Amino acid sequence: MAVDYKELGLVNTREMFKRAMEGKYAVPAYNFNNMEQLQSIMTACGEGGSPVILQVSRGARNYANQTLLRYMAEGAVAMTRELGSDIPIALHLDHGDTFELCVSCIESGFSSVMIDASHLDYEDNIALTKKVVEYAHPRDVTVEGELGVLAGIEDDVQAEVSHYTKPEEVQDFVGRTGVDSLAISIGTSHGAFKFKVDSVEDIPPLRFDILEECEERLPGFPIVLHGASSVVPEYVKMINDYGGEMTGAFGIPEDQLRKAAASAVCKINIDSDGRLVVTGEVRKYLKENPKEFDPRKYLGQARKALAELLKHKNEFVLGSAGRY
Ligand code: G3H
Ligand code: 13P
Ligand code: ZN
Repeated sequence: MAVDYKELGLVNTREMFKRAMEGKYAVPAYNFNNMEQLQSIMTACGEGGSPVILQVSRGARNYANQTLLRYMAEGAVAMTRELGSDIPIALHLDHGDTFELCVSCIESGFSSVMIDASHLDYEDNIALTKKVVEYAHPRDVTVEGELGVLAGIEDDVQAEVSHYTKPEEVQDFVGRTGVDSLAISIGTSHGAFKFKVDSVEDIPPLRFDILEECEERLPGFPIVLHGASSVVPEYVKMINDYGGEMTGAFGIPEDQLRKAAASAVCKINIDSDGRLVVTGEVRKYLKENPKEFDPRKYLGQARKALAELLKHKNEFVLGSAGRY
């Protein structure tokens, strides 16, 4: 039986994005795969008064079980309300790749889905995205589409100009598909190795010119930024200091994300930073406490550190803290 997300206390992203656009901030979209990550997200956003989009990827569904994840999100809403917080919470499918997956998520209580058909031909992208919108909108579920392909880990971001979103396509794409938000490619990429550089100073700036052109062609329309982890240097160092090997890991500097958040970018996707915090803290804890074998100890430490980092992002990078 289909589940109505409104009965779970969730909201879609429409009002969130409208407010983010007016208030010149971005709503955080944090991925979760397990209980500790979800608790960190809810602590940071609940205590800091930030709207939040809980993101579930295909990989997360395979790892944690789709039904369990849905109940976890429902539990997160209930826990947050019990703690006295009234923040808007959306449950979103990240990088959905088929119509069937989007339908399955909507039926199980997701309030928002992404159909990522950006790797297809332009017309095929439109056809698949439109099909998802036609299914989602009668159920009041919002849909994110994507135009342009984010560079992969091994691609040279500076050279792969053809992967950037073409601003001349955005109006036609949004008009013909009916999407509620659009992910664009302006130089971010997924993962912890976003740039082939030797130091933070060499990181190339995002293509704000493309973003501005998209904004001009789609006034007031919510833009989404994927691949927006900063790959926090402190945590890369912690991982390396405690036995890991992440030399050459660089992300998007915070000042660039701040600038994006003040523009039409209403949703900023962050996953890798959460992974780095957990890995760094667990490595450190186990090295410093070799006799410890209670997962609550090392995961508890990681959970606390992750909540602190996300609070910092909401307050000082995305500007979403206290904005609901
Ligand atoms: O954009 C991708 C997200 O970071 C999710 O990654 O597919 O490994 O869960 P995943
Ligand atoms: P990061 O790998 O930069 O965290 O990006 C996450 C993302 O875009 C999820 O959709
Ligand atoms: Zn993404």
